[in-house]
Amino acid sequence: MEGKKEGEGETGKSEFGASEIEYVSYGGEHHLPLIMSLVDQELSEPYSIFTYRYFVYLWPQLSFLAFHEGKCVGTVVCKMGQHRNTFRGYIAMLVVIKPYRGRGVATELVSRSIKVMMESGCEEVTLEAEVTNKGALALYGRLGFIRAKRLFHYYLNGVDAFRLKLLFPCPELYPSLPMMAKTEDSHCHDDHIQPEERSELHQHL
Ligand SMILES: CC(C)(COP(=O)(O)OP(=O)(O)OC[C@H]1O[C@@H](n2cnc3c(N)ncnc32)[C@H](O)[C@@H]1OP(=O)(O)O)[C@@H](O)C(=O)NCCC(=O)NCCS
Repeated sequence: MEGKKEGEGETGKSEFGASEIEYVSYGGEHHLPLIMSLVDQELSEPYSIFTYRYFVYLWPQLSFLAFHEGKCVGTVVCKMGQHRNTFRGYIAMLVVIKPYRGRGVATELVSRSIKVMMESGCEEVTLEAEVTNKGALALYGRLGFIRAKRLFHYYLNGVDAFRLKLLFPCPELYPSLPMMAKTEDSHCHDDHIQPEERSELHQHL
């Protein structure tokens, strides 16, 4: 039987206060193996080192890592750029290791990236999540993301994806709101994936 690891409580969860988690933006090559190790462990898609480098070299300010007592416990990797007529942010990868889940670490990581995107002039943020990934769908739903589209057989494992989207308010109309997208407006269009709908992430696999 597996023993309880040091620092873990009766539930197998790590015991920590929210203030003990340190969040840092991508700080250089020494962070790369930490990000890769977490993502490789937890996400179904295999990514090459070139994919990771593409994101963290071009948009280091959009990737964040969470540390607890020197250990990397979560990460988010993003990009932003012009897409058709929109300047938009894109969340490529998000992982929190199991003992640290359910304590708001992912919410904090994603919120930090979104804040930088907003400050950089993005009008919206998108990402894809497996339709079976209840945790991620709940997390992004709470943050105000809507289900914009269903992408059939999107992942290499054959699973469908939802494309999720967070629309920012027009700054002139809503100067005081940090982000705005009504969850009650959530809708989902079933749609077959078009070549131009391949995510920014898949283009770099
Ligand atoms: C999805 C994931 C990043 C969430 O990390 P986390 O730190 O536990 O998330 P948070 O604590 O910030 O959760 C915020 C909210 O999201 C929702 N949520 C998160 N995980 C959930 C789960 N497993 N089931 C249901 N709701 C969940 C809850 O509403 C939660 O708020 P609450 O705890 O007050 O109810 C983490 O489970 C993970 O790394 N999973 C594997 C990788 C993955 O799926 N990444 C996302 C790819 S799109």
